[in-house]
Amino acid sequence: MALSPGSALAIYPGSFDPITYGHLDLIERGSRLFGRLVVSILRNDKKQPLFDVEERMEMLREAVAGYPNVEVDSFHGLLVDYAARRGATAILRGIRAVSDYEYELQMALMNRRLQPDIETVFLLAGEAYSFISSRLVKEICGLGGNISGLVPPGVEARLRERAARDKA
Ligand code: PNS
Repeated sequence: MALSPGSALAIYPGSFDPITYGHLDLIERGSRLFGRLVVSILRNDKKQPLFDVEERMEMLREAVAGYPNVEVDSFHGLLVDYAARRGATAILRGIRAVSDYEYELQMALMNRRLQPDIETVFLLAGEAYSFISSRLVKEICGLGGNISGLVPPGVEARLRERAARDKA
């Protein structure tokens, strides 16, 4: 039986190192489109994240506390296998600029080939957030720049703490 969007489960996967207001905007809009939204962090031993998976999950949980149909999780291995195990019918991704498109298109087509039953759904980033990336936020904070308004306050505090610790 086909699921209506209102009852469908979607996975919003990513690194979220750390969550930004751009991610949160997508989560808020995704939570209105899908019955349940699972924000899930890839456990990737090859990447060198600033925050470990548990810290990133904590920050995500704090940020999505106001959305009752949003859950935070983590996964390893193939995204489509995880999505199928969770019973998801959609993968949610955001596109900020044309530069995101090529990478996202390639992943979406590959994921469709691997698991044709799961659709990738793209939302365009809100204009106010389209220039925000976790990488830039980390760089700016590490160099002493102002990151307020780019990430939730709890994330900002952790980033500052980390930058101070790295300097000491
Ligand atoms: O936020 P990111 O780092 O751009 O997210 C990338 C992510 C986690 C969505 C992507 O790397 C992924 O799905 N990795 C899981 C492994 C996998 O399924 N690889 C094949 C993708 S076609």
